[in-house]
Amino acid sequence: MAGVAKTLTLANGITIPSIGFGTWQTPDGDIAAESVKNAIEAGYRHIDTAQAYGNEAGVGEGIRMSGIDRSELFVTTKLTNDNHTYELTKSSFKKSLEDLGLDYVDLFLIHWPRPLRFMDNWQRANEETWRAMEELVDDGRIRAIGLSNFHRHHIDALLQTARIKPVVNQIRLCPGCTQDELVNYSRECGMMPEAYSPLGTGKIFNVDEVKAMADRYGKSVAQLCIRWSLQMGFIPLPKSVNADRIRENLDVYDFEISAEDMNILTGLTECAGGAPDPDNMPF
Ligand code: A2P
Repeated sequence: MAGVAKTLTLANGITIPSIGFGTWQTPDGDIAAESVKNAIEAGYRHIDTAQAYGNEAGVGEGIRMSGIDRSELFVTTKLTNDNHTYELTKSSFKKSLEDLGLDYVDLFLIHWPRPLRFMDNWQRANEETWRAMEELVDDGRIRAIGLSNFHRHHIDALLQTARIKPVVNQIRLCPGCTQDELVNYSRECGMMPEAYSPLGTGKIFNVDEVKAMADRYGKSVAQLCIRWSLQMGFIPLPKSVNADRIRENLDVYDFEISAEDMNILTGLTECAGGAPDPDNMPF
């Protein structure tokens, strides 16, 4: 069993499984439910969804179908962009719990720092939103709160008024898209980097160099990239709706990528796309 932990500890002391099951672009209903159930059966204990994915109900159904004890799972959801007010944070979070069929979530994130609707008053909107999220922590409805797609200036603004510190920044991270400065700054501020699109939303499968390296290790491209993410100290959130691939993506704890190959993967600049600009998103 080579060198990476299967669970990590966030800055507020709670443990988090080091690989999460991503559900972005997973359709709601049977597909979401089946894939979440398959993921839990395969051994995932960390499920990542979002209000904006529109699949919280299917994800919740999958959790129930798996029959797993709630206490064994780590469930994340995220506040969608139109909801950055105190009231809407509270009411939409309540709806998320209802859709998921849960009475708490482990992690709740602000999905984007600067929604179109709050383009000119995003600092104030995030301050209000965060206050609502802190109260939900106080009420026992959320175990940890964090950020997604936040850059340094968004983090700094939020930290000016935050009573509870964010413990995660979920950003796009895959070979060739490493956002080094942001990762370092997030860590300095006490946040663990989570990697969404760890397979470059599928684009990494077209990169010959990655395929050749995966062959050398006797592993698939997906396994190599997920392993790279773990060795980088990220929490990868690979998405799949296919039972075989779901299993494959968790089978990454039995090999180690050499330092030289880690550098090669890291240096494949934007081979599977770059990071979004969160100050200019069209939603
Ligand atoms: P599918 O859901 O049909 O398996 P990311 O996690 O970076 O967003 O990438 C998700 C994309 O990669 C999806 O298109 C998913 O398709 C595909 N994918 C996930 N795991 C694998 C795998 N092990 N092999 C091939 N494609 C995969």
